[in-house]
Amino acid sequence: MISSDFLDLSDTTSIITGGAGMLGRQYTAALLQCGSQVIILDNKSSKTNVINNLKKESKLDENLLSNLTLIKCDITNHNQVKKTFTSLRSSLKNLKILVNNASLVKQVKKNSDLINVYKPFLKMLPKDWEEYFSIDLTGTLLVTQQSIPYMQKNGGGSIINISSTYGILSPDQSLYEHFNKKLTTKQKKMGIVIEKPIGYSISKSGILNLTRFIATKFAQDNIRVNTLTLGGVYDENPSQFVKAYSKKTPLNRMARKQEYIGPLLFLASNMSSYMTGSNLIVDGGWSAW
Ligand SMILES: NC(=O)c1ccc[n+]([C@@H]2O[C@H](COP(=O)([O-])OP(=O)(O)OC[C@H]3O[C@@H](n4cnc5c(N)ncnc54)[C@H](O)[C@@H]3O)[C@@H](O)[C@H]2O)c1
Repeated sequence: MISSDFLDLSDTTSIITGGAGMLGRQYTAALLQCGSQVIILDNKSSKTNVINNLKKESKLDENLLSNLTLIKCDITNHNQVKKTFTSLRSSLKNLKILVNNASLVKQVKKNSDLINVYKPFLKMLPKDWEEYFSIDLTGTLLVTQQSIPYMQKNGGGSIINISSTYGILSPDQSLYEHFNKKLTTKQKKMGIVIEKPIGYSISKSGILNLTRFIATKFAQDNIRVNTLTLGGVYDENPSQFVKAYSKKTPLNRMARKQEYIGPLLFLASNMSSYMTGSNLIVDGGWSAW
């Protein structure tokens, strides 16, 4: 029988890393609407910014905003993460849901961003590769280490680690060809080629086994750990990119930012009670051919 309170999360507290970002705000609004107390850990945005965006994007009932806490925290910094959890101690009695969502998602807004964002493989420096790992892998590890003892005390929980299709497959670099056409003659002469970086792909694939390791280790505590692997979300990207991306996707379009709420709530709630160590791929069919 289907239980009507599957999505009643009113006795839970959720932590969302990178919850101030584009998709993090969608998850925040959805978890608040299901009754969860939500704590965002993000190193950038202010609470006012997040609230203004939430009101604009999700038409959230204003009363629910009192259930939202935003803490500025760099999840790659061990001391900051420890201090944050110490300061939150009294709010974590019902910690049941952790969404490890923070990542380095660099957006290209203008031509000069191109070189900093997408460096060609042969020109990449160690720091360009390491900055992805420090957020996706070290950050996820540090926040998970702090969260698990609360979940153990609470009789269990659900941890959702966010990956990408680029963590299960290599990016098709031809999608980025039109960015190369925008390069100046001088940039071309310097041998600059724009590519999707390997650091993002490898750190996102690391998430898959980090999930399996923690899932098997803490299953005895009724802590479920799953990966949610996402395809590209439309965010006012250049039209040539959207066209090329859509052609590679059986559903023939990029995702809408609300379309990952359902999968997230499925993994967060008892609807997925027999699922752990798995990878839920939601990509419009991108990985199916
Ligand atoms: N947008 C997409 O098309 C897409 C596709 C596949 C997967 N994803 C994944 O979804 C997740 C969210 O992506 P998004 O598009 O909302 O990105 P976003 O850039 O809008 O949000 C990421 C958030 O993480 C925060 N963050 C970064 N470093 C941090 C740190 N050290 N400490 C704390 N917070 C930090 C940022 O401040 C930002 O608010 C990421 O894991 C991303 O890889 C996104």
